[in-house]
Amino acid sequence: MNLDDYLKKEGIEETTMDPMNLFKSALKEQDYKLFEEVSSSYMNKDTIENAIKLYDFFVEKNLTTIKYSLVISEIKKVMPIVLKEIPEHEKILDIGCNDGLKTIYYAMSFPNSKFVGLDISPLALEYAKNKANEYECKNIEFIEGNMLSMDYDKEFDLVLMDHVLQDTSCFDSQLGQDFMLLEKLNKSKEAMTDDGEVFIAMAPNSLNDFNFQFTHLINEVGFESIKSDVFWYTKFGVRQDGIFYLVKKKN
Ligand SMILES: C[S@@+](CC[C@H](N)C(=O)[O-])C[C@H]1O[C@@H](n2cnc3c(N)ncnc32)[C@H](O)[C@@H]1O
Repeated sequence: MNLDDYLKKEGIEETTMDPMNLFKSALKEQDYKLFEEVSSSYMNKDTIENAIKLYDFFVEKNLTTIKYSLVISEIKKVMPIVLKEIPEHEKILDIGCNDGLKTIYYAMSFPNSKFVGLDISPLALEYAKNKANEYECKNIEFIEGNMLSMDYDKEFDLVLMDHVLQDTSCFDSQLGQDFMLLEKLNKSKEAMTDDGEVFIAMAPNSLNDFNFQFTHLINEVGFESIKSDVFWYTKFGVRQDGIFYLVKKKN
């Protein structure tokens, strides 16, 4: 199935509607108030607990399709980049797989590779497992867990961290951003084989500043960049810069 057909089958289509209006129209008044609470808690303090509440909420209130429709432009940019990398890999870990939309498509496209999707949201994972069954996708396993507590030892030859590094960073608006990037990158390094690769996609606020600092960080962790490029897409109708890195362990 090609990507456009898959997204269409999942009900994910372009929308020009304002995100908040879209969520408002999909939720009962009471639930919309709850959504405002859950999303503002997450924006103010991006802890594991608040992230679980938000990502669980999306599934519990059937907002999955809407959520993806708002970022369809990002999905269509990033997925083809990842799809090009997968053929050379046999065991792939997708950290922050959420409800498995992307992971399941990758797994169906490469039935001879084995996939593991890891996430902290129990409801998103339940949704992912049901979807994988629906598609009779057998080469995938979904696991609940925090990437900072992973204890994989050189098990995966490709690790995906697609729009996840910025999450659950214990963001503190008083102190500024702390993405715990070093810890997260070190965890991905432990999980990958010596000749493995890590794919990272991010949507930084300030592309040049981020790229400068992140390139240093990659080096500090003991990675070298194999490929990196900038792309752009629209998020909630607004232009957003994106950047991806494909890195491997330094020799
Ligand atoms: C913005 S979503 C991105 C989902 C997916 N990778 C994609 O590109 O569509 C971030 C996901 O990362 C998960 N996540 C955030 N922090 C995590 C952590 N510390 N460990 C595991 N998963 C995490 C969230 O639950 C959420 O499902």
